[in-house]
Amino acid sequence: MTRIIVYTGKGGVGKTSVAAATALLAAERGYRTIVLSTDAAHSLGDSFDRELGPEPTEIAPNLWGQESEVFHNIDTHWGTIQDYVSSLLRWRGLDDVMAEEMSVLPGMDELASLLLIADHYDSGRYDLIVVDAAPTGETLRLLGLPEAGRWWLDRVYPIQRKIAAVAAPIVGRMTGMPTPKQDVYEAGEQLFRQLEHIHDLLADPELTSVRIVLNLERMVIKEAQRSFTYFHLYGYPTDLVVCNRVLPDDAGDYFGAWREAQKRYRPMVDESFAPVPVRDAPFFDEEVVGERMLRALGAAVFGDADPTEFFYRGRPYTVRRDGERYVLELELPFTSREEVKLSRYGDELAITVGSWRRNLILPRILVDAETVGGGFRDHMLRIEFAAAGPVAAGQKGAG
Ligand SMILES: Nc1ncnc2c1ncn2[C@@H]1O[C@H](COP(=O)(O)OP(=O)(O)OP(=O)(O)O)[C@@H](O)[C@H]1O
Ligand SMILES: [Mg+2]
Repeated sequence: MTRIIVYTGKGGVGKTSVAAATALLAAERGYRTIVLSTDAAHSLGDSFDRELGPEPTEIAPNLWGQESEVFHNIDTHWGTIQDYVSSLLRWRGLDDVMAEEMSVLPGMDELASLLLIADHYDSGRYDLIVVDAAPTGETLRLLGLPEAGRWWLDRVYPIQRKIAAVAAPIVGRMTGMPTPKQDVYEAGEQLFRQLEHIHDLLADPELTSVRIVLNLERMVIKEAQRSFTYFHLYGYPTDLVVCNRVLPDDAGDYFGAWREAQKRYRPMVDESFAPVPVRDAPFFDEEVVGERMLRALGAAVFGDADPTEFFYRGRPYTVRRDGERYVLELELPFTSREEVKLSRYGDELAITVGSWRRNLILPRILVDAETVGGGFRDHMLRIEFAAAGPVAAGQKGAG
């Protein structure tokens, strides 16, 4: 069975390096591995110090690399839809080149990359797909897309299609506007079905891990926490946090203050992501480029462990709607008689039980919600929030 590992994190933290190191290590252990960059600003090739393209390129035994490219993907995946969109744009008076250029709709990059993941999975050619994703914001959009697509498919598409079947010939005749033909609808529908398939793959905890790469800096950690929250909401399993560029003790006086700051932040990382494990990688004294350095990074992060292992299974917490309330449930690693203390500042929720402390970033729907109840039973801490207004699509049953 194919395993999928997605690396994400704030810009510049070392996602590409860690993704490449993971892929190399896995390939050397005998897994047929493809590492796929979905970031429009590709640097995966640089990391291996060689040219990569939009089709899989063999890098080493058992190892292939690929840099997703939106135009290339459109050609191979949904030319029909693009043809229609560009004919619409041409009808609006745009010249040919412009129409071609504009027919790449927002979100298409992400969509194209997702389709590639699904293709590789379905092909059965690989044991492991490592995804070097774009910085967090874009990755969240990427991972949110299947959900949005499903919503659209379920509610809007059938209606629109019915209306179009009746109105299209008339509109076409009256305005000269190109109207979508049957094959455009079919391509669209197929696309959305694919999105559903992708969502099922990425949300399958037996298949997929989303891993967060971070550095020991306040803003980086904060962003990582926020994305961790969203992965939970979308139901994407997180099994590992990689804390990259940790300054070694012998880094010298110049880095003294940096090292002290890192030491202060390190426990915060454990508190924020527990029980998901955190693994450290040192700040190397040279760039991580080429197989030798990638191997060193892989060894630092994984040691003797198999990089394709599931380092954590389960959901550290879930949020769901229950009538008039949102219920946040959090698994605690112990049964305690001690008092559970909650404190909230803005979007942060701190949970303290004796000397144990956890820090969560609340999903947006809960930030302004009043805490109305809760309890602790069978390792499960339950916090109830008042729900205001109707539940929006995509939030229902999320967790
Ligand atoms: N542990 C490390 N020690 C030293 N240098 C590192 C380490 N990790 C990464 N680097 C270097 O830092 C730079 C950025 O790393 P990388 O490209 O992997 O980050 P990224 O998170 O993918 O960035 P982007 O958000 O731009 O995609 C690279 O030059 C890389 O060689
Ligand atoms: Mg990168």
